[in-house]
Amino acid sequence: MEVKKRENWGSTLGFVLAIAGSAIGLGNVWKFPYITGQNGGGAFVLVYLFCIFLLGMPIMLCEMAIGRKTRQNPYGAFRMLEVRRSRLSKVLGWLLIGMGLVMLCSGKWGFALLTFAASALVLKLGFAAVGLFSLFAAMLILSYYSVIGGWIVEYVYKAFSGQLNVPDVESAEKLFSDFIGNPMQVTRWHLLFLGLAALMIWCGIRNGIERWSKILMPTLFFLLVALLLRGVTLSGASKGVAFFLTPDFSKLTAAGALEALGHAFYTLSLGMAITITYGSYLGRDKNIFTSALWVVLLDTGAALLAGLAIFPAVFAMGFDPSDGPSLIFKVLPATFYNFPGGFGWLWAGLFFLMLTIAALTSAASLFECGVTFLIDQLGLKRSVAVILCYVGIGGFGVLTSVSCATWEHLPGVHGVLEYVFGEVKSKNWFVLLDYVTSNWMLPLSGLFTAIFVGWVWTTRKAGRELRISAGSLVDENLITYLSGFRGEPLYRSSRNHGLTVMTLWGLLVRFVAPVVILALFLQSIGVNLG
Ligand code: PHE
Ligand code: NA
Repeated sequence: MEVKKRENWGSTLGFVLAIAGSAIGLGNVWKFPYITGQNGGGAFVLVYLFCIFLLGMPIMLCEMAIGRKTRQNPYGAFRMLEVRRSRLSKVLGWLLIGMGLVMLCSGKWGFALLTFAASALVLKLGFAAVGLFSLFAAMLILSYYSVIGGWIVEYVYKAFSGQLNVPDVESAEKLFSDFIGNPMQVTRWHLLFLGLAALMIWCGIRNGIERWSKILMPTLFFLLVALLLRGVTLSGASKGVAFFLTPDFSKLTAAGALEALGHAFYTLSLGMAITITYGSYLGRDKNIFTSALWVVLLDTGAALLAGLAIFPAVFAMGFDPSDGPSLIFKVLPATFYNFPGGFGWLWAGLFFLMLTIAALTSAASLFECGVTFLIDQLGLKRSVAVILCYVGIGGFGVLTSVSCATWEHLPGVHGVLEYVFGEVKSKNWFVLLDYVTSNWMLPLSGLFTAIFVGWVWTTRKAGRELRISAGSLVDENLITYLSGFRGEPLYRSSRNHGLTVMTLWGLLVRFVAPVVILALFLQSIGVNLG
């Protein structure tokens, strides 16, 4: 059989823009501004930046290193790196069995069943189970992400066709609920949006994703800046800037800090197979560290720009920004309509266009994970893989579009879930999917990735992949020992061989990340840590 050479990104810029395309999404434009508003503005931003640089970026480096080293989809990648079944994976497997037993005893047999299934997978496959798990998470996320993407495209259409002229929040609200109350319509836009994402990856990495990202990402930033300039020049805008950026430490709670941590993961697209997949197409001559740094800076920049575009406008038009999740579809249309000069529809159109781009490049990255997996593991042709994923995810996403139509439970599905898990409460399918993926699956896969790189593959070998520069690390002390870099030739020219970037990275990955993520996870599933 002829072995096909794996495609590479054409340039570092292309790679950075593609990953930034994945990272910059609804999380930046929609979620970040409102959680900042709810958690004390500037104070929250500080905590968030801390989390991004001390946890997000180190894990991103891990994922890129795993991908590039193995040049495989996440499942194949973990399998390849775990040369012999590690003892750690056995420990994890048995730990899961123990957890399953505890759940069984407390009567949660649905969760117990899931946990037993997971333990069987881990005992059978080792850490490759983590790869599968993150892929599964990615596909679940795509199935509802694409539905929201569909709403956004519909709003572009509404804006330019003049249907979005709503003077106040109440009428915007009515418009929104009329729209999502129509499942046929929502499904149509969902399938259209997923189709656009499929189109982006149809021609592969270099001619597909990379080419599109190079056009779309600059457009996105251009639109963001245009919106920002319009927003801050409205009279009364300064109140919005103050709301967004003035630190109010009294509003910052422990829960808020944890939210910042969770969001750091979400916003950088970590734990969902994406960075491993994209990294697997990165050439050996490219520098992972600088790429990751750029991605982090672009993502953070986009989040700050979005906040500065949205809040000044909302305040200047006299609306209430504390509305949370519904801000975008309810408050913003009314805000734009009231812009002086009468071109509100245009600004609304540009805003939703910007949002479409942000969501589309993120959806494409999720889509690519499934496609790369099918190509690697089953040897399918790209076109076949894309079509298969489209049909599967598109079909599954219909559940979400229907459940949003009623904001109620899906009759059959919910009954089954309730019966099995016993505590699904009033969450509809869409809310449930979002909750389970962001609060359970992403932290878990991030946790296992950190443990894997830190203790199984080892930071020493992963560090070689990061290759900041070649040379030798002369001085050895407790810190270099703990970080896994003892005796490792890494630096040529560093004069101070104490706590360098790489040893810091090693410590963060081996100790800090696992502990902090575990704490976040326990907290989010409701274990009170005092
Ligand atoms: N990082 C994305 C964001 O900030 C989140 C995301 C990306 C979610 C890709 C799913 C898929 O919006
Ligand atoms: Na993001």
